[in-house]
Amino acid sequence: MLVPRKVVISFYSGSRGGTGKTTLAVNTAIALLMALRVPVAYVDFGVDGTHMGSLMLSAKTDTVGVTDYLMGFVDNDEVIQRSGLIDGLYVVPPGTVDSIRMIHSMPRGLRPVIERLGSLVTRLAEHRAYVVIMDLPSGLAQPYTIASLVNSDIVNVVLDHSPGALEALTSIGTVLNVVRPRVVNAVLNKYIPNAQPSLREKVEGFVSNGGVFTLSMSVVLHYLTSQLKPFIKYKPVGDLREFMKDFTRFMGALKTQVKQVLGGVL
Ligand SMILES: Nc1ncnc2c1ncn2[C@@H]1O[C@H](COP(=O)(O)OP(=O)(O)OP(=O)(O)O)[C@@H](O)[C@H]1O
Ligand SMILES: [Mg+2]
Repeated sequence: MLVPRKVVISFYSGSRGGTGKTTLAVNTAIALLMALRVPVAYVDFGVDGTHMGSLMLSAKTDTVGVTDYLMGFVDNDEVIQRSGLIDGLYVVPPGTVDSIRMIHSMPRGLRPVIERLGSLVTRLAEHRAYVVIMDLPSGLAQPYTIASLVNSDIVNVVLDHSPGALEALTSIGTVLNVVRPRVVNAVLNKYIPNAQPSLREKVEGFVSNGGVFTLSMSVVLHYLTSQLKPFIKYKPVGDLREFMKDFTRFMGALKTQVKQVLGGVL
């Protein structure tokens, strides 16, 4: 069988939580769908039980999802949904409470998890979703986190723009040195201009074949996320305008990286 080409993009933050991965992953899925005009898939590893990303994309969350699939309880087609928010977007929700609990307490060997996740990505690509976005939970190296990173072409390491981010990069770097994705970007989120010295130079040595992207703190974005509304669907107002400039720059670079990985497919 002909295996379609695909690009997998992960949003990862090592053990630091609440850095903006879900907010950015959901909006990136919509932004790339609009820019590249191909179906995009969003895989929600919100195994902390929030399901926020799937809810933002109007997917059903009281159903089987990626953890049920990785545990081998269901087939891949059973966990792939269509977003109720936007055409051409597929969503794989986190999964049932039982499988989420089990995936923490009874991890299967790493190789079967890696292979199973790889075949979910292939299945999504057969639906023409050549771009697959993985929204990871915080936690340095659980089996499903490693499986996602191993299956990724592009890893966006999303951290708060704070000195603690530099500390976190050391342990994240250790994991990524083993996994070796083709592109590693660093996203320093929630930057407060004029109040913080830039960390860009200190982080530049960490990225590979990618860039450092600084995204501003935005009260409007925070409000929209809390209302489960993707900011990309709203006209930039107030402080969202500054943020949108930063985000657009990030999307421009990501689009180029995606096209490079996919070669002539798009
Ligand atoms: N640039 C920003 N400006 C202001 N608030 C932001 C920004 N980015 C994210 N947030 C807010 O930070 C909070 C955490 O965001 P989010 O849930 O996307 O993080 P996460 O990394 O996915 O968290 P977790 O590790 O729990 O999965 C949310 O309330 C969100 O609105
Ligand atoms: Mg999240």
